[in-house]
Amino acid sequence: MWDSSPQPDWTRARICIDFGTALSKASICLDPTLPLEVGVKPLPIGGISGAEHPLLTPSVLYVDGGRLYFGPQALELARRGVETDRDPLLSFKTVLGAGNVQEALAQKMPPSIDPTGTFKARDAVALYLAYLDQLIREAIDLAPNMPPGVANARRRYTSPVWRAGGMVDLAFEAIFNEAAAISIKLGRLLLSPEGISIAQCKDALDKAAAMPGDGLLESGVFEPHAAAAASLAFTSAPTRFVMVFDMGAGTTDIAAFEFDESTDPPMLGEIKEARQCSALAGDEIDRILIALLFRKRGQERSQADDQRALRSTRLSARDLKRDLFTQGKCALKNGWIATTIKISDLQEDPHFRQYLAALVETIAKSLAAVTQRAESVGAEVVDVVLAGGGSHLPFLPELVRAAAHRVRATVRLRVGPLSPANALYQGVDTSLRGVFPQIAMSVGGALVEMPDRPAAA
Ligand SMILES: Nc1ncnc2c1ncn2[C@@H]1O[C@H](COP(=O)(O)OP(=O)(O)OP(=O)(O)O)[C@@H](O)[C@H]1O
Ligand SMILES: [Mg+2]
Repeated sequence: MWDSSPQPDWTRARICIDFGTALSKASICLDPTLPLEVGVKPLPIGGISGAEHPLLTPSVLYVDGGRLYFGPQALELARRGVETDRDPLLSFKTVLGAGNVQEALAQKMPPSIDPTGTFKARDAVALYLAYLDQLIREAIDLAPNMPPGVANARRRYTSPVWRAGGMVDLAFEAIFNEAAAISIKLGRLLLSPEGISIAQCKDALDKAAAMPGDGLLESGVFEPHAAAAASLAFTSAPTRFVMVFDMGAGTTDIAAFEFDESTDPPMLGEIKEARQCSALAGDEIDRILIALLFRKRGQERSQADDQRALRSTRLSARDLKRDLFTQGKCALKNGWIATTIKISDLQEDPHFRQYLAALVETIAKSLAAVTQRAESVGAEVVDVVLAGGGSHLPFLPELVRAAAHRVRATVRLRVGPLSPANALYQGVDTSLRGVFPQIAMSVGGALVEMPDRPAAA
C-alpha cells in the first residue's frame, strides 16, 4: 500500500502517549501531510495488554509476592488483594502535574502500593513507561500497513500542565531515556502476565541509570491543546472558537482556542483566561457515589470489615458509576446482600448537587472568557467539545447551558462529545466512536505541529 509515489516521509512520524489517571492511550501520526484516515492511528495497546477496550489500558502498577505487575493483571491482583491493606493505583498525573515535579519524583511509593519499599515514584514512572513502550512496539508490530521502523518514531506525552522547556522537560527526557534502556533490557518480559521479579526491575533500573538509552522524546503537549487539535482535524464543520472540556478520572481540564486561518499553517491560539484545571472529575463522582452507597448500606460489623469493603468498592466504583448512568441504577454486592442506588438517589444527594453547582461555576468562568472574545469579533458559534471519559456523562451539556445562561452568553453554543465526524475516518473504523473522546488527546497530541503550541502560562 505504501508503494505509490511520492513516498510519504516517515521521519515525520511521531507517537503520542497519554498516561491518564485511569487509562493510558497512545496514537501514532505517520506523517501529518497524509490524509487523516491513513496518517493517524490510535494504537491498540489495550488489545495487547488484555484490557477491556483495545485502545485503552489501565494505568496501574502493583507489587505482590516480590513481583511487579502492570495493567489489567495488576488490577486483577489488586481485586484479589483487598483482604490485605493494599492499593494498586499510582497516579502518574499527580507526579506529572505536581507543583514541584522533582520532589514528587523523588518520593518513595507508599507502602500500600509497594510494601517492599523498593521503588520511588521516578522508578515507577520509568518502569511503567518501559512497559508502555513494549505495548506500543507490539501494537505497531501487529497492526496492518505499518511502515517499517516507525516503532522508533519520536515520542510525545500529553501533560495536564503546560511548562515550556526548562528543567521539567529535561527531567522527563531523562526518565524516557532510562525507560528506553529498561525496555530494551527487559523486553517482552514486561508484558508477561506473571509479572517481573523486583530484583530484575531493580537491576534494570540501576543499569538504565548508569547507561540510559534514547527515549526519543520530542516534547510534552498540553492536553487541551491536543484535544482541540483533534477536534479541529476531525470536525466536518470547523468553527473559529473551540472550548475543550476534558473530564478524565483525576482532573477536568478546560481551555479555549481561537483558530486563525489567516496564517500558514493555520494557528491555534489559546484564550488564556479560559484555562482551568479542576479536581471536579470522574474520581470525585466515584467518591460521592461510594459515600452514598455506604450510607445506604449501613456499617459493617467491624472497622476492619468496613475498610475491606471500602477498598473493594473503590476498585469497582468506575463500573458502578457507568451502570448508574447507562442503566439508571447500580448495585453493590456484598455476599448475600446487594445495595441498590438509583440515578434519582444520586441526583438528590446534597454532595452531588454541590459537585454540580461547583462544576457550573467552573465552566461559567471559562465560558465567560471565550464567549466575550467570540462576541467581540461577531462570531456566530462557539464549539464546546466534550472530551475524556466524563464526556459520556449525560448531564454535561445541560451544565454547559446553565453556565452559558449564568454568563449571559448570546453567541450560539454547539455542545457535544469529541467525535470523528470526518466521514473518511468513520469508514475506516466505526468502533472508534464511543471511545474517541478518550483517545482524542493522544490522537491530537500526535497530530499537532509543535511550533503552534501555546506559550507558557
Ligand atoms: N460511560 C461512562 N459513564 C460515566 N463515566 C465514564 C464512562 N466511561 C468512562 N467514564 C469515566 O471516565 C474516566 C476515565 O476517563 P479518561 O480515560 O478520559 O481519564 P484519564 O485520562 O485516565 O484521567 P485524567 O485525564 O484525569 O488523568 C473515569 O472516571 C471513568 O469512570
Ligand atoms: Mg486524560
